[in-house]
Amino acid sequence: MYVKSTKEILDKANAGYYGVGAFNINDIEFLAGIMSAAVEKRSPVIIQASEGAMAYAGNGDFRKGAYVLTDIVRRYADDVPVPVALHLDHGHDMDHVMAAIKAGFTSVMIDASARPFEENLAITSEVVKIAHAAGISVEAELGRLVGVEDNVSVAERDATLVDPNEAKIFVEKTGVDFLAPAIGTSHGAFKFKGEAKLDFERLQRVKAMTKIPLVLHGASSVLEEDVQKANAYGAKIEGAKGVPFDVLKESIKYGINKINTDTDLRIAFIAELRKALHDKPSEIDPRNFFKPAIEAVKKVVAQRMDVLGSSGKA
Ligand code: G3H
Ligand code: 13P
Ligand code: ZN
Repeated sequence: MYVKSTKEILDKANAGYYGVGAFNINDIEFLAGIMSAAVEKRSPVIIQASEGAMAYAGNGDFRKGAYVLTDIVRRYADDVPVPVALHLDHGHDMDHVMAAIKAGFTSVMIDASARPFEENLAITSEVVKIAHAAGISVEAELGRLVGVEDNVSVAERDATLVDPNEAKIFVEKTGVDFLAPAIGTSHGAFKFKGEAKLDFERLQRVKAMTKIPLVLHGASSVLEEDVQKANAYGAKIEGAKGVPFDVLKESIKYGINKINTDTDLRIAFIAELRKALHDKPSEIDPRNFFKPAIEAVKKVVAQRMDVLGSSGKA
């Protein structure tokens, strides 16, 4: 079932101390894999689309893409027994936010985290007013998702990561529904040079001071098996490192409820696609390459639902 607001899913996760995966899509292939996993695992699920995904789905027209994505996600959600949300990931401007709201997304992220605190606060407040009037929820971000190496100074960490006191003021003043606090992750396949370490002390302070569902961006685990498979079939992904499962579980224990995952799906899909292209040189029907790649996405999503604790919660 397609929910009215993503908040329905995340408030339950917050109360029940579990995490829900928010998986990025651009097209039907990733969506199909994610939905199959959600149904099999009886898990609530958040589908999310970036500004780039909206443009891609609309063949260059992001407003059209917002409708295309809403239509396909709603259609896939209609006849399944699990709650499904559709979220705008990293909306940077009002045009994309408005397009998502008008098309029927169930939540939007306004990402003004690169701007000074007061500007972020003002922009987020404006989005909250509009989205709440439409009955949908809002995510915002504080701090920067650049990852943090072991040997940086306290001043450097403070400049990059979320300030818990600011988080409290920000949540109170904006009325935002979910917050993404920067605690040391980064996007993509190369998150850590050494050990995967997040600032859990900071996370706990943010949770204690805000109490709302918190979001972990850059949460892909970068599965060794999928990286090796991709490399065996011609990819060149060297030195990749993600957030291990035990670190994800710990982050949920300290207050994370929405776990953003894109890179793991991309690697799994591409690895299987490369293999299928290699194994079937005389095949010309793209569906016969995509089908095993969709299965690979499903496998990654299903495994994450178990790890995050959302399996069986629908
Ligand atoms: O955080 C970003 C997501 O992985 C989406 O990436 O902007 O390439 O669609 P994208
Ligand atoms: P990954 O690159 O770790 O998958 O993170 C995705 C993300 O944060 C989307 O907002
Ligand atoms: Zn992100």
